Amino acid sequence: MVTELLSTSSADIEIAAELIKNGELVGMPTETVYGLAADALNPSAVAKVFAAKGRPADNPLIVHIADISMLTELALDIPEAAYRLAERFWPGPLTMILKKKDCIPDITSGGLDTVGIRMPDHMAARMLIEKSGLPVAAPSGNISGYPSPTKSEHMMRDMNGKIAAVIDGGECSVGVESTVISFENDNTVRILRPGGVTREDLLEVVDDVIVDPAILHELSEGQTVRSPGMKYKHYSPLAKVSIIEGEYEDFCDYVNQHKGNGVYALVFDGEESGVTVSALSYGYDDREQAHQIFSRLREFDLLGAKNVYVRAPKAEGVGLAVYNRLIRAAGFEVIQV
Ligand code: TXA
Ligand code: MG
Repeated sequence: MVTELLSTSSADIEIAAELIKNGELVGMPTETVYGLAADALNPSAVAKVFAAKGRPADNPLIVHIADISMLTELALDIPEAAYRLAERFWPGPLTMILKKKDCIPDITSGGLDTVGIRMPDHMAARMLIEKSGLPVAAPSGNISGYPSPTKSEHMMRDMNGKIAAVIDGGECSVGVESTVISFENDNTVRILRPGGVTREDLLEVVDDVIVDPAILHELSEGQTVRSPGMKYKHYSPLAKVSIIEGEYEDFCDYVNQHKGNGVYALVFDGEESGVTVSALSYGYDDREQAHQIFSRLREFDLLGAKNVYVRAPKAEGVGLAVYNRLIRAAGFEVIQV
């Protein structure tokens, strides 16, 4: 299959919408990461998504909508708080887990009776949904286990020859996936995956926000997961990633002692000179680190890195999402210095 690279022109989105209606897959830009889009209501189209990514069948897909009226067509028993959250954060990086209606096929929801729904903040994504007239299922467009794509080149690296088209909508502005929440009761939500909408943001709309312990800790054997995605290895480049937690001087000492062939460092902007190995930087504040993290992890593979020592981000604000992705990329290995 030849994977066509499309633009965000109205004519090209029309082509992409036809592909979606015909049960084909399209790489779709969003503000978080690129998604691998398919008609959420078509089981054979959704099956192609699982096959192209190599994704475990029990890991459900997020369904993307372009209009709030689509929400009531897809979900049941919607809590009042969900409408307030939608009002405040949509379009944007928030996914709400709700009880699903029967129109959502089991393959899309990974066999669960719930469905994650979000309205993306990218014109091309919403135009694709509107023009196809369909809710669009879209996991991140990476091969399962690899860092998520934040540029069309990343989508092409992972999906060229496997899907019908990729829409080049530029670099994703947020850079990490959406915040996934479930409802504990009408005024309490639980963050299952941290993202661009922070705990503090959510507290402006609901009384209580629980941060699920699985966000920063490895699940122990037999522990139940509230979100299937929590139990899989994730976001890992080919290189081995280690998070180094401690002061800058101690970080540099540790890395310099472990210098060798294929050893690299990922540091904050302006810190490259403290280490004697080759280093990339990933911004300084939480927003910038989120924006750059996946792209940097992919760059290390292009450089042929074998070991990457990462200066730990602050797990605050969107930094919680950055930390969550890195700790999974590192297989939960954190070195204290
Ligand atoms: O920003 C995003 O959310 C991107 C863009 C493309 O929208 N999508 C994305 O999808 O990150 P994916 O499939 O890579 O991650 C979805 C996560 C998984 O961890 C999955 O287990 C969880 O959301 N999830 C989806 N539906 C769920 C449900 N019904 N119950 C619990 N967790 C769910
Ligand atoms: Mg993903």
